[in-house]
This record gives sequence, C-alpha cells and structure tokens, in this order.
Amino acid sequence: MKTQIFTKEHIAEAAALLKKGELIAFPTETVYGLGANALDEKAVSKVYQVKGRPSDNPLIVHVDSFDQVKQYISTYPEFTEKLIEAFWPGPLTLIFPIKSNVLPAVVTGGLSTAAFRMPKNQTTLTFIQETGLPMVGPSANTSGKPSPTTAAHVYHDLQGKIAGILDDGATEIGVESTVLDLTDEDGVPVILRPGAITVEDLLKVVPEVKVDKHLLTESEAPKAPGMKYTHYSPDTPVFIIDGEKERWQKAIQWAKSEHKRIGIFADELLVSEFRQEVNEVFSFGEKQAKNAAKYLFAGLRSLDEKDVDVIFAQAFLEKEIGTAYMNRLKKAAGQKYF
Ligand code: TXA
Ligand code: MG
Repeated sequence: MKTQIFTKEHIAEAAALLKKGELIAFPTETVYGLGANALDEKAVSKVYQVKGRPSDNPLIVHVDSFDQVKQYISTYPEFTEKLIEAFWPGPLTLIFPIKSNVLPAVVTGGLSTAAFRMPKNQTTLTFIQETGLPMVGPSANTSGKPSPTTAAHVYHDLQGKIAGILDDGATEIGVESTVLDLTDEDGVPVILRPGAITVEDLLKVVPEVKVDKHLLTESEAPKAPGMKYTHYSPDTPVFIIDGEKERWQKAIQWAKSEHKRIGIFADELLVSEFRQEVNEVFSFGEKQAKNAAKYLFAGLRSLDEKDVDVIFAQAFLEKEIGTAYMNRLKKAAGQKYF
C-alpha cells in the first residue's frame, strides 16, 4: 500500500478514505494520532495490527463536540460541562461509562468505559466533521517507540501500512493528553496519565482531583491499561541526568571511559557547554520544561538514528508540564538515572 501525504487542502479525500475503512494519521496539538472509524470493528482492529499494540489497551475516541460524546455515554458528573468549557478543544481526555453495544468492544478493550477527546487542531476538527464519525486515535507510532510529533515520524514508522497522513506540521505540545477518569465511585476525577493540563489547571474548575496511585508508587498497577507497557523507548539506552554541569561532566567522563559514543538531549546552554565533548547533540532551546516536553520524542528519535551508544537526557522538576515530561522520560529511560 502506498501511504499518501495529504495537506489541509485535501481533507475531503482523506475523509473519503477513512469512511471506506482505511487508516489515516492526523495531527493534534499533542502528538499525531492514527485515525480509524470508531464504529467499524475491522478498521479499528487494523489499528492494533499496524501499531503492534496489545489488544487490552483501549483507544481514545476523537470527537468534534461534547454533543457527539453524549450519544455513547450512559451518565456524566455534573462538573463535566465546566471541564469541557475550560479545556475542550484541548489536551484533556475524559473517561466515561458507556451505553452497551454502542461502540465495538475492540475500541474499549472490552471495558464498560471509554475515553473521549476533542483535539485542538483545526485541520483534524474539519476532518472529523467531514467524516461525520467518531474516530479512534492512538499515537501514530509503532507500539513501544517514541510518539510521533511530525508527519515524517509517522511516515517512518507506518509507511506502506496505512492509506494516508494528514500533514499539518510539527505538534505544539509534544506529549500526549492528560487522561482523566470520571468514573471513580466517590465522584472525584482521577488523573491516569499526566499531560499538559495539570492538577493545578484542573483545580481551577473542580474542587478535588486525585492522581492514580501508580503515578506515585511504581509498585501499584496503573488503571489506564496503556500505562503498564514499555514506552517511548529508542533502541539506544537513555540515562536521565538530574543535576548541573558537574553531573553532566561526570556522566560524560564515565561514558568515555567505557568507549561509548554519546548523544545528549539538553537545553541550549548545556549543549553549547558540551558540544565538543560528545558525539551528537539535540538542543530543545531555552531551559523550560515546556520546551523539553515539546521536543522530547523528536530528540530521542533523532539521536537514536545517529551513531551513538548512549543518550543522556536532562531532568526537570516534577511540577506543571514537568510532571508529564518526566513521566515520559522515565519510561524512555526505563527509570535509569546516571
Ligand atoms: O494526546 C493524545 O491523547 C494522543 C492524541 C493522538 O490524541 N493519543 C494517545 O492515545 O495518546 P494512546 O492510545 O497512545 O493512549 C491512550 C491512553 C492509554 O494509556 C490507554 O490505556 C488509556 O488512554 N485509556 C483509553 N481508554 C481507557 C479507559 N476506558 N480506561 C482507562 N484508560 C483508558
Ligand atoms: Mg501511545
């Protein structure tokens, strides 16, 4: 199969293919997603197949309004509309209990709940409107690899396996949406996956927010099935560096003594400091967690393609967007710190 690249002038052609049961990758503000008609069991099964995704890991249904969601869910807490008003379209995925037999079981991995999100990308919202369908959309990468933040990343992983990619340039946020479970018995929303919408943001709208225990203690099983799998891993081992120049110096000395070729993912000051001492660099610009998050997956992909034996990546404080960044980086590094 030839994978076609569509620009926003050709949304209608891409929509026609999706309606016929084909897979089309689409841009969002977080990462690129792999789209299929959520009501077409065969199309959804293909999504798992081409990604190599375990079948017990449910998908997010992408919509263009909350009204569209109401067709599928059985109930929702009264504060839902406030959350939607504040954060949709945007990087917040909401989990609701669903009516029976309204979505194929492959979408939800057989669960009685489903995840919904309205992405903040006009090309994709127009695309969804054009199809008139709810659309599943896991990140459009091979399972286990860093998520795609450009159409080229999608093409690299899935060329020949999907009908097309809607290209709208690089994504803005760079890490996947916050997943918020609205089905907990006590009525308090629970963060299952951290993203750009933070606890602090949510607390401006709802009185209380919990965080899934596994995000605090590694021994707890995560409630979002996808959070238990190895993720975001380049083939090259990644080590997290939590510290200033001296710490980086030590890590570089160690790697050199082991005759390892070094790649670093760091802010522009660290990169300019160590450029001569290492083999490959990827600068995410000014030292801000937001920038690190935006370029994490692109940086890991780029360094992984270079001839290096080890990647050192910069730690950030686990607050605000730094929480989501560190969550993804720790998975990519298999929790390894230097
Ligand atoms: O930003 C994003 O959310 C991107 C873009 C493309 O929209 N999508 C994305 O999808 O990250 P994916 O499939 O890579 O991650 C979905 C996460 C997984 O961890 C999955 O286990 C969880 O959401 N999830 C989906 N449905 C769920 C449910 N009913 N209950 C608990 N967790 C669920
Ligand atoms: Mg993913």
